[in-house]
Amino acid sequence: MHSRPPGLPTLGSTPNVDRLDRPLRDLRISVTDRCNFRCVYCMPREVFGPGFEFLPRDELLTFEEIRRLAGLFVELGVEKIRLTGGEPLLRRELETLVSLLASLPSLQDLTMTTNASLLTSERARSLKEAGLQRVTVSLDALDDATFRRMSDVGIPVTRVLEGLDAAVEAGLTPVKVNMVVKRGENENQILPMADHFRGTGKILRFIEFMDVGTSNGWKMDDVVPAREILDRLNRRWPLEPVDSQYPGEVASRYRYRDGGGEVGIISSVTRPFCATCTRARLTADGELYTCLFGARGHDLRGPVRQGTSDAELKDLIRGLWSRRTDRYSELRSEATAHLPRVEMSRIGG
Ligand code: GTP
Ligand code: 5AD
Ligand code: SF4
Ligand code: SF4
Repeated sequence: MHSRPPGLPTLGSTPNVDRLDRPLRDLRISVTDRCNFRCVYCMPREVFGPGFEFLPRDELLTFEEIRRLAGLFVELGVEKIRLTGGEPLLRRELETLVSLLASLPSLQDLTMTTNASLLTSERARSLKEAGLQRVTVSLDALDDATFRRMSDVGIPVTRVLEGLDAAVEAGLTPVKVNMVVKRGENENQILPMADHFRGTGKILRFIEFMDVGTSNGWKMDDVVPAREILDRLNRRWPLEPVDSQYPGEVASRYRYRDGGGEVGIISSVTRPFCATCTRARLTADGELYTCLFGARGHDLRGPVRQGTSDAELKDLIRGLWSRRTDRYSELRSEATAHLPRVEMSRIGG
């Protein structure tokens, strides 16, 4: 992990900062828009049903194209890459991409967010061998009925827990667990989840339900505020805050005073963190988004396939970043809730 404050230059180059003085540090790469889950807050079945048209294969960036773009982003200051989806493990031969990315000079963190349902021991080992450093697993409940209601598929919780264990055994650590909390749906799982993961070394993070995309029917009433989650936890197991691990860390970190380890809270709705947001997002078909809530992306695949040089591509990306003013979560209101924006499954969260 780097400890350099945001805004300071990378060695030998000028920092690429946006209009709000935020450097470009992280790249989240979606490798597919498909998923084998239909989480109600991300890919509701009514919208992502049998008739939904996913990206055809020839529209996806190839691994070589991703490697080339990622290399340019690294030259522009990116230090951390996260693979996302949809579900990234649905992309065939993902290990090949991982090894291409792992060889990028000066990359400090290479990780992946997955639902872990396809993370067998063998898969976890081969990803580790290819150079993946760690994984973050999405899991919203321990109770099977609640989990099935949230993920809207017939996969049991044990499959995900096995995937988590496979990750730990393969050394894809520290393993983190992301739980999206939705009022009335899984809030009764907050304490059971905390209890289950306390003392295991797996770091549970609670995420406020967000208005990403336009198909999840988001309402402020569905959000369980971070403060409330924290109070519930603290009443049961007293907590103390822990310093951020790096500037711009999304999760606020806490430690159980009794030595049970660490938890995180991601308060994207009630305490937005746009002021330190250093993340760029690349969709599977090569569009660059400078915000999770962007209405549109900037096509990079076209230029890549039309023979644009590295220097020109870097100028293009630098230019897009330098004009960036995004801070959606700080501006969120009932009015913004209806603005068009990209679906979570396309941009990878
Ligand atoms: P670490 O690298 O382990 O610190 O993970 P991370 O928190 O950066 O990545 P992860 O994919 O686990 O993100 C956790 C959740 O935070 C995601 O599911 C998103 O819902 C939310 N999130 C991440 N980045 C952003 C962001 O830039 N804006 C907003 N609004 N939410 C974000
Ligand atoms: N609100 C908050 N988090 C979400 N995720 C997906 N949709 C939402 C939403 N509407 C989370 C997933 C995963 C991460 C990539 O994004 O649970 O952990
Ligand atoms: Fe799939 Fe993750 Fe979206 Fe759930 S949140 S539908 S697991 S991409
Ligand atoms: Fe960054 Fe946009 Fe999220 Fe704010 S809302 S933290 S600018 S991605």
